[in-house]
Amino acid sequence: MSLDIAQLTKTLEDEKKVFISFKKFDKNENAAVFHILSWALAQNDLLFLQHIVLTLLKEVINNGIKANFKRIYFEENSIDINNEKEYAKAMESFKTSVIQKKKEYDEKAQNFNYVVEISTQIIPNDGIVFSVYNNSKITKEEIARVKERINAAVKANSIIEVLGDMTDDIEGAGLGLILNLMLLKSSGIGIKNFQIKAEKEGTRVNIKVPLSIHKPDTISKIEKRIIAEIDDVPTFSDSIQKIINLCDSPDSSISAIATEIGKDPSLSSNILKLANSAALATASRSDTIPMAAAKIGIKGIKEMTIAVAARRVLSEKYKEIRGFWDHSNLCAIYAKKIANETGMKKMQDTIYLAGLLHDIGKLVLYSIEPSTVNALENAVVDKNRTDSALFEEITMGISHTDIGARLSEKWNFSDLLTECIRNHHFPQRSSEKFRKATCIIHLADSFLNIEEKNSNYVYIDYSARKLLNLDTEEKLHALHEKIKPTE
Ligand SMILES: [Fe+2]
Ligand SMILES: [Fe+2]
Repeated sequence: MSLDIAQLTKTLEDEKKVFISFKKFDKNENAAVFHILSWALAQNDLLFLQHIVLTLLKEVINNGIKANFKRIYFEENSIDINNEKEYAKAMESFKTSVIQKKKEYDEKAQNFNYVVEISTQIIPNDGIVFSVYNNSKITKEEIARVKERINAAVKANSIIEVLGDMTDDIEGAGLGLILNLMLLKSSGIGIKNFQIKAEKEGTRVNIKVPLSIHKPDTISKIEKRIIAEIDDVPTFSDSIQKIINLCDSPDSSISAIATEIGKDPSLSSNILKLANSAALATASRSDTIPMAAAKIGIKGIKEMTIAVAARRVLSEKYKEIRGFWDHSNLCAIYAKKIANETGMKKMQDTIYLAGLLHDIGKLVLYSIEPSTVNALENAVVDKNRTDSALFEEITMGISHTDIGARLSEKWNFSDLLTECIRNHHFPQRSSEKFRKATCIIHLADSFLNIEEKNSNYVYIDYSARKLLNLDTEEKLHALHEKIKPTE
């Protein structure tokens, strides 16, 4: 499918509706929807809703596609969709067959007349309306189930509450819908702006993003508490600050820096430990600060000092999260290796540091809202399709990535570091100057999440893959295999 994005946005600008229609929903379709909605939101200063709206639309579109596939399956197997008994039985086999054979269905759908059509329109002084239509008619049972979910979501005060009330029959599409409805609610878009209706020949879902929207109070309260907490996190000690300043000054000698570091034996040994692990497979070990400096430079020493100091401050104030530093250390190593493979060798030590600190916001978030964070983690059954940062944002108004970026600013970290921390889940949000570094952290983190079974290759940001020249599956897998540690 080729789409003329420029033409589509021009039509939108002229206050006309634009339509995109498709029979499957894959990378290209995803990209088209993403461009259109980003454009429409950006025009109205609502770009902060980009990922929320994309998540919502993708859920609705995927449900439409699935509904179409369901009809194809029922037609092929001559099953009557309106026969309750047959329906339940067929649904079981349909679910497994469509999950296993998604590609096959994508192709099959081209021979049927079932389509999903999405239209976008900006209504001045009112809102942006996204309308998703699919030409398979919704059954009475299906619409009853959807209405039930909507009612549950309207009544609930929080995602946690609604998930607690759910019986275990709810999964897949049901859970997705509920989470998305709560997303509407907590983003300020509002559930009333989500409508589903059966039309004569098909089913339509309308989502209207009002041009004036406000964050609900409960969310802002948690957000405020977290921001106040960040104010409370100590700055680096005077002696650490002195070392950082010495490293920044062009007239400092390595011996002066080493002397200063030597006054703090645990700092000194931790820097060496880090410097040696950062050097990875390079030949020699460094046993002294000057030796390490010869290898990683004064800038490298400064970065290791920052890493040790940040870890020290955070560990004194916050409980250790299980596996947190293991994940961080490995991410740093992966990021450095990826930097080497993608023409960013010059930046490898800074990128290593970014990998080490990318999730520091989690320490603050987990300590302030442990019950919410735990409930979220346990509740999101299908981790593969949700993004932790996005759900933190919608339940608490702030995510570990924002918190981390605030800490980074508070501690005067470099802009590159702050950008990597802030945007490692959504690297396309990053400014152009730091985008490649951010993409590297995103990729390193994604590889680890895949290894930790919390993600899947398809959720790696496509723009990041393109920028790093990993557009094909083969290249992506090959790189992952290449950087995995050999046991
Ligand atoms: Fe993260
Ligand atoms: Fe991470």
